[in-house]
Amino acid sequence: MARKRVGILTSGGDAPGMNAAIRAVFRRVKAVSPDHEVVLFREGLNGLAGRLEVNFDRNIDRTRVRDIIHRGGTFIGSGRLVELADPPETVVGAERDAWLRRQREIIDTAVVNLRQLGLDAIVVIGGDGSFKGCAVIATAYEQRFQNPLRVVGVPGTIDNDIWGTEFSIGFDTALNNTVDALRKLRDTIDSHRRCAVLEVMGNSSGWIALAAGIAGGAVTIMLPEVEETYRIESVLERIRTAARLDYRYIIVVMAEGVRKVSGRPRLGEELVRLIEDDLEIREALGRPLEARLNTIGYLARGGHPTAFDNLLASRLGVAAADEALNGANVPVMVGLVNNQVAVHPLSEVTKHSPRLVRPDDELLRVAGSLLVHANQPF
Ligand code: F6P
Repeated sequence: MARKRVGILTSGGDAPGMNAAIRAVFRRVKAVSPDHEVVLFREGLNGLAGRLEVNFDRNIDRTRVRDIIHRGGTFIGSGRLVELADPPETVVGAERDAWLRRQREIIDTAVVNLRQLGLDAIVVIGGDGSFKGCAVIATAYEQRFQNPLRVVGVPGTIDNDIWGTEFSIGFDTALNNTVDALRKLRDTIDSHRRCAVLEVMGNSSGWIALAAGIAGGAVTIMLPEVEETYRIESVLERIRTAARLDYRYIIVVMAEGVRKVSGRPRLGEELVRLIEDDLEIREALGRPLEARLNTIGYLARGGHPTAFDNLLASRLGVAAADEALNGANVPVMVGLVNNQVAVHPLSEVTKHSPRLVRPDDELLRVAGSLLVHANQPF
């Protein structure tokens, strides 16, 4: 069997379970043949496009991936390289030229590094931004050296917004961290008969908010994908109903993405003020409802991975190693579909990602039945 060399990098926002995925890729590659070599890039795409001598570990052995499975984050580091994507429309003139120059530099350095290392395949554990970046690098590599570079994506992001997989690595841990935060909030909100608005991560998608809001028993959930859920009047109506129904605690889960889509960067702050000033709520309670805004932020992304995330990472890591060693010469991503490992062309994944909450999503229907509605009679 020909000796192969496989590179691994973690990219984008770190996600709990990434370490288990690195370990699984390493172990599977070595299990297929101890002669195969695994190379680790540090600091994500920054390492791939950086100075080779300080950014990678060549021919790692078992001890390098020992004692990492329980740790959150990624032990090889992660990072974003925004200039790998095309400049947004707001970047114009000289700034745009500088962006495109930097983009060229990044791609050139990355393809030369990959060539120097003599990699047969690279496994990228990250989100759709990282996949898009690696696809661009792979195309440039092929054009320059007339030789394809095998790219295998493994979905690793707490946002769960990757097309082609039911779950991405890290989502379950972030969800559990968020539900844990909601439970803690509930204790104090209940004691004071207050309202809490919890802002949660998720970028442009509302998956964390939707799942955590259902699992944590929120009164209402504000999702960037569904305008009705973040219209202030509609949120207030739901809170008024909860006040009339004599809730001791009123919890609103707000996805961070609603600030952007609503065009109200201080939406959470505005909402809290409107809740406290609302006359109907005052009338229902016989007093103003005190409200507090909380942001779970990066706390949702940290901590040891759940068993689910480590299991998912191990399954996808093994599948990714097999693809890296024996797959077709087109970029692919491994994912979970109907609880089975599936392999998709990376171009399809990036075309349909980020995967957002759709109006016909089952979870949305569930939320529709369980949350508090305006003028709810029971
Ligand atoms: O994509 C994961 C994520 O945590 C998003 O939920 C969030 O919007 C973003 O990363 C934060 O990015 P950064 O770590 O670069 O601040």
